[in-house]
Amino acid sequence: MEQYIVKGGRPLKGSVVIGGAKNAALGILAAAIMADETVQVDNLPNVRDTRVMLQAVEGIGAQVQYIYNNSVQINGKLITDIDVEYDYIRKIRASYYLLGALLGKYHEARVALPGGCDIGSRPIDQHLKGFRALGATVDLDHGMIYAKAEKLIGAHIYFDVVSVGATINLMLAASMAEGETIMENVAKEPHIVDVANFLNSMGANIRGAGTDVIRIRGVKRLHGTTYSIIPDQIEAGTFMAAAAITHGDIQVTNVIPKHLESISAKLAEMGCTIVEGDESVRVIAQNRELRPTNIKTLPYPGFPTDMQPQIATALALASGSSLVTESIFENRFKYVDELNRMGASIKVEGNTAYVEGVKKFTGADVDAPDLRAGAALVIAALSADGFSSISDIQYIQRGYEDFETKLKSLGGQIAKVDNEHDAHKFRLSV
Ligand code: EPZ
Repeated sequence: MEQYIVKGGRPLKGSVVIGGAKNAALGILAAAIMADETVQVDNLPNVRDTRVMLQAVEGIGAQVQYIYNNSVQINGKLITDIDVEYDYIRKIRASYYLLGALLGKYHEARVALPGGCDIGSRPIDQHLKGFRALGATVDLDHGMIYAKAEKLIGAHIYFDVVSVGATINLMLAASMAEGETIMENVAKEPHIVDVANFLNSMGANIRGAGTDVIRIRGVKRLHGTTYSIIPDQIEAGTFMAAAAITHGDIQVTNVIPKHLESISAKLAEMGCTIVEGDESVRVIAQNRELRPTNIKTLPYPGFPTDMQPQIATALALASGSSLVTESIFENRFKYVDELNRMGASIKVEGNTAYVEGVKKFTGADVDAPDLRAGAALVIAALSADGFSSISDIQYIQRGYEDFETKLKSLGGQIAKVDNEHDAHKFRLSV
């Protein structure tokens, strides 16, 4: 199995270009099938999750044409199937966006019910509540969700829980429902706004994305478009946290600084210097002592849950005690045991981690428990004294394009290997 081998101890310095937002891309790739014309998506992150989503889209008969590494054309005209196989959902939960897309376009969809995952149980009751509000019957049978409607009628939907997935799924279905849909208590993440803007570029009529209330006037047809995805807020935040963790100096470019405000604010509280440009943010932490602080993850514009492992890793090197509260998912501290093996001193009680700062990490062999925790462990290894190995890196490859290449360009001593010989060779080479 592939793993990363890392020799730590060197501050990361330099500039790194951030790719397109994975969590916008997954909703956009599903929405793209709703037109019977060619849709071109640019600035598409070439990561495992987007590749699986494109396979799922092809699996139901849509035409997919890779233009080049980060651009794809999709045409939903020849879709023959409304069944999305379990295999795709098993690989990525976000395949369930095809429920909203197929229901909106064909008034029928059958998608496997996603299971739990590494970070929590992740129910989809709010998605199903929304589809039923639009007039669909939704049945669960043998692990499959079957949604069907004579027609979809706009409705007033109040979400019990702020949910990124449910907000996107209902925007998809309601964009072609008859009449007006009002959605309240919706998610406001940048990727929600991006999916709404993408649908509007296809002829939808969606207003208010990014606020607490989204209003949608359904349209009969969506048309082709060419659209470029926004930069990935979490990839950018991960490299910003890497500057703090390695006491380095990193500029992330091709970003929207406003989307990074909560991350920049926390890093500044911890003693980093933040320099914002029009499309860049620089984090300077060289020869700085990191100060402790407290974190509570919240829906946007609060501190993002997808940045919790990375910021906790930085706090583990701060000069004092910090509290990290995970209010979104129930099982997002699985990296703590691995980080403690690298010398961190973190204790988890319920949804709170008590972080006692230590002077430094020491290298160790660790496993990536999930996507963002895996990224945090790699950066911890780059800060640690000595060698580390990180296994199960397929999790990291779900959401980070060219992760090790970008880290190497910042001076990181890291190699991706899939056998002991190459691991040994790397160890001798640095
Ligand atoms: C999206 O997951 C992201 N994934 C996650 O990113 C991210 O952590 C999460 O939003 C929160 O920002 C994608 O966009 C593909 P939610 P999603 O619905 O949509 C509860 C990553 O690292 N809930 O906003 O599944 C749920 O249990 C991934 O890129 C219900 O109770 O998250 C959770 O506690 C990890 N019922 C909370 O809401 C529902 O019907 C937020 O979940 C739906 C959700």
